[in-house]
Amino acid sequence: GKSGYAHFMHKEIHEQPESLRRTIQGRVNSLTGTVALDEFPTDAFADVEQVHLVAMGTSHHAAMYAATLLAARGIPAYAFMAGEYSLARPPVTDRTLVVAVSQSGETADTLDAVRRARSAGARTLALTNVVASSLTRECDDTLLIRAGPEIGVAATKTFTSQVTALVLLCERIVADATGASSRESRDLLESLSRLPGDVQAVLDTSTAEAVARAYAGSDAYFFIGRGIAHSVALEGALKFKEISYEHAEGFAASELKHGPLALVTEQTPVFVVFSGRHDEMTLNNAKEVQARGAPVVAVTSRTDGEIAELADHVLSIPETHPDLAGVAANVQLQLVAYHAANLLGRPIDKPRNLAKCVTVE
Ligand code: F6R
Repeated sequence: GKSGYAHFMHKEIHEQPESLRRTIQGRVNSLTGTVALDEFPTDAFADVEQVHLVAMGTSHHAAMYAATLLAARGIPAYAFMAGEYSLARPPVTDRTLVVAVSQSGETADTLDAVRRARSAGARTLALTNVVASSLTRECDDTLLIRAGPEIGVAATKTFTSQVTALVLLCERIVADATGASSRESRDLLESLSRLPGDVQAVLDTSTAEAVARAYAGSDAYFFIGRGIAHSVALEGALKFKEISYEHAEGFAASELKHGPLALVTEQTPVFVVFSGRHDEMTLNNAKEVQARGAPVVAVTSRTDGEIAELADHVLSIPETHPDLAGVAANVQLQLVAYHAANLLGRPIDKPRNLAKCVTVE
């Protein structure tokens, strides 16, 4: 049942401290500050030369997030929409790891991408929520995200668990490929252990309902960010449009001036996602939209005067490692989408035209 929540989506949003704890459980060795993923033997990823992440929808945004992290640590990594990957057929070798990210493990485009990559000689890994799904049967290896069943059509707790499991996988790939555990890695894993508590803090203090109320009836809703915050902005917009039916778009903050800025008016609130990396550049983008009269909603851990001056509203997240800030920021945007849809009386758990699992291409 919904345990007192009006919608499964709201319940699942609130389950995230627990689902994230399960995702992490037993997978970090806090003594050595290293990732312990018993699914894979020692040095399983030592010979990986590049990583292709394939996925659709929300899972694609988790894939983008991970590609950004891996590339920043020196591993060539690219995220593809699975449906496009099958057509583009980027070259692979037996040293290419293809990671298929799928909550259900049954998405047709994602299964097709994996089949093609595998027959071309790539090594494949399923990152999924569903034990014994088609994807786990098609792939060489599996990493379960352990988010628990998700009933709402809109993916929420499975996105945060995907990102968290991908952070663990990235750390393991980097450790195997470089043969060393780094200081960087220890800092990240230490912050990771605090992530369930950080998400609880967001749930306890979020002003997302007031923000949704303040901007109800706007012409459109825009979401911007750079680096990992770009994928979080895209995910914020996807969630918003799919359950509220309002026009919502996510952009790379760097792309704004190359076209999307033409859409920005006083009637288009812009959600600006900060991660703690490249924040000064993103602040400048926020000033650009503010100069066009758009309300600015900052999603950030910053509390300084510059943010206060710029933002009409702040959705606060706890201070954490910049590679993880996107998880707490995403939870704020889940809540904004939920409350916006709820104010409009939408059928939140079953949005029109959408299915939980897309088994045709
Ligand atoms: C959005 C949503 C969809 C799915 C997509 C992939 O809330 O749920 O965009 O993320 O259909 O599904 P999976 O992850 O099952 O492959």
